[in-house]
Amino acid sequence: MNETTAVYPGSFDPLTRGHEDIIRRGLRLVDRLVVAVAETATQGKDSLFSIPEREDLIRTVFREEPRVEVTSFSGLLVDFARERGARLILRGLRAVSDFEYEFQMVGMNRSLNDDVEMVFLMADAKNQAIASKLVKEIARLGGDIEGFVPPMVAEALLERFRDARENHRKARTPR
Ligand code: PNS
Repeated sequence: MNETTAVYPGSFDPLTRGHEDIIRRGLRLVDRLVVAVAETATQGKDSLFSIPEREDLIRTVFREEPRVEVTSFSGLLVDFARERGARLILRGLRAVSDFEYEFQMVGMNRSLNDDVEMVFLMADAKNQAIASKLVKEIARLGGDIEGFVPPMVAEALLERFRDARENHRKARTPR
């Protein structure tokens, strides 16, 4: 069997339409895509969803795509890719903002394991500007997030911020 497998790593807190777009494009290039939620990447970041919650959301969105496997990993990305027999690591690239960080990642990952190649894809223009961090902020402040995330992620975000929004509304309502 000569299947091409790629790992698509990230924080996915939560999955956005930008991530979804990259996964669908990735599936045009490889036979199997391992979407890997990084446990270490969340350290020091303000995470909203737990690792299993993030995995579940991705799994639900791609429940009809048997070529997508969703999992999590700790430790080094290149080691995880090697364990999974993946020679490719897929990443999405947004205009300018991501470049510096991704450039460093390529350099450092290459030094760690030059057998794994990093491949960058760009989402459709309408999904280019989406960032999980901003989606969370918009959801927290009661803005409309439907264009930015798949429907079940929007539901999960609304649920998560329901209490916060209710308190916010009460605080603004004159007595
Ligand atoms: O979605 P993110 O937060 O931009 O993803 C970053 C991620 C998970 C790809 C990166 O933090 C990572 O690879 N973490 C695993 C640990 C590792 O290998 N670090 C060295 C990277 S050069």
